[in-house]
Amino acid sequence: MDKMLIRGGVKLTGEVPVSGSKNATLPILMAALLTDEPVRIRNVPRLRDVATALALLNGLGVESRWTGEHEIELCAARVTSHEAPYEMVKTMRASFVVLGPLLARTGRARVSTPGGCAIGARPVNLHISGIRSLGARIQLRNGYVEAHAERLSGARIWLDTPSVGATENILMAAVTARGQTQLENAAREPEVQDLARFLASMGAKIYGAGSHVIEVEGVERLHGAEHAVIADRIEAGSLAVAAAITGGDVTIRNTPVGQLDAVLAKLREMGVAVTAGDGTLRVSGGAPALRPVELRTLPYPGFPTDLQAQMMALVTQAAGTSVITETIFENRFMHALELMRMGADIVMKGPTAIVHGGTRLQGAPVMATDLRASMSLILAGLAAENVTEISRVYHLDRGYEALDKKLASLGARIERVNE
Ligand code: EPZ
Repeated sequence: MDKMLIRGGVKLTGEVPVSGSKNATLPILMAALLTDEPVRIRNVPRLRDVATALALLNGLGVESRWTGEHEIELCAARVTSHEAPYEMVKTMRASFVVLGPLLARTGRARVSTPGGCAIGARPVNLHISGIRSLGARIQLRNGYVEAHAERLSGARIWLDTPSVGATENILMAAVTARGQTQLENAAREPEVQDLARFLASMGAKIYGAGSHVIEVEGVERLHGAEHAVIADRIEAGSLAVAAAITGGDVTIRNTPVGQLDAVLAKLREMGVAVTAGDGTLRVSGGAPALRPVELRTLPYPGFPTDLQAQMMALVTQAAGTSVITETIFENRFMHALELMRMGADIVMKGPTAIVHGGTRLQGAPVMATDLRASMSLILAGLAAENVTEISRVYHLDRGYEALDKKLASLGARIERVNE
């Protein structure tokens, strides 16, 4: 397994591009199941999770081929299986959103339940109850969700929490259901909106994506389409923190500036200079003149949970006490334990972490536990004295395209080595 070596202390400078959004790409790839015609997706990031999604779809009979560095053509002319196996879903829980489109297309689906993961239990009860409301007969057997429905029928559905995955799964099941579906307390994330745009380009009738209530008018069938995936706001935010934590001056290109309001507000509150341009974000200042902040993660448009770990690394460099509260997942502070090994002063009380910042971090051997925690350790390494060694970087490869190359292009002393 590879590891990353970082010798900190360099102020990052220069320009860096953001790749396509992982969390928009994954449901959009699954939506290819909803038509027997080819679809072409552009701005697709080269990530492990994308490869996993393509392998899952291939197992269902979906043909796919890269038609460009970041462009894929998929065709689900024939669906030859109804099963998403445990091995696949276990490695990437986002696979679970294959349930809705597979059921809508073929009338049958047997999808492994994803089980828990490092950051929490992550149940799928809202996915199941929503799709059951659309008329599916669903039972749980041997760790699999087994669903049947000759033709789904529209329904009025309330989500107890605005779950991103449940919203996406239910949307993809509802677009060819008979009649109207009203999804209330829906997730508003930009990735949900991008999926809805793609479905609409295939002929679906969807209204209100991005608001709490999404209306769907079922259609008989969907046709092929082309779509360019939105930029990855979490990568953009992660790169902004990299500039701030090193006190550098970085311009981030292809940035979805309008989707980062909560993040930019927090960075500015910390004293980071953030200038938004047309698709670009210039981030400068930052360390060492950082101010402490209070931060709560919330569903979009609140502060994204996927940037919580990165911000925790940043506030360790802000003299004073910062308070971070994680309201989305119940166990998303694993990175704190590793940051403490680098000298960070963090006290955790349930969903809240209290960070006494302003101390230099020291490089140390640390271990990545999940995708965003590994980014937090990279960021800490960029600011730390001497060398930080991060093992299990395969977590990074799931969600960041060529991150070491991007950071090295900004002057970071970062090297990827075989362990
Ligand atoms: C998506 O996960 C993202 N993944 C996550 O990003 C992100 O952290 C999360 O949304 C929240 O924004 C993808 O889009 C592939 P949820 P998802 O369903 O859909 C509870 C990353 O790093 N819940 O919105 O799984 C759940 O336990 C990943 O890129 C239920 O209770 O998140 C959690 O507490 C990590 N029942 C909350 O809702 C359900 O049926 C939010 O989960 C579903 C969810």
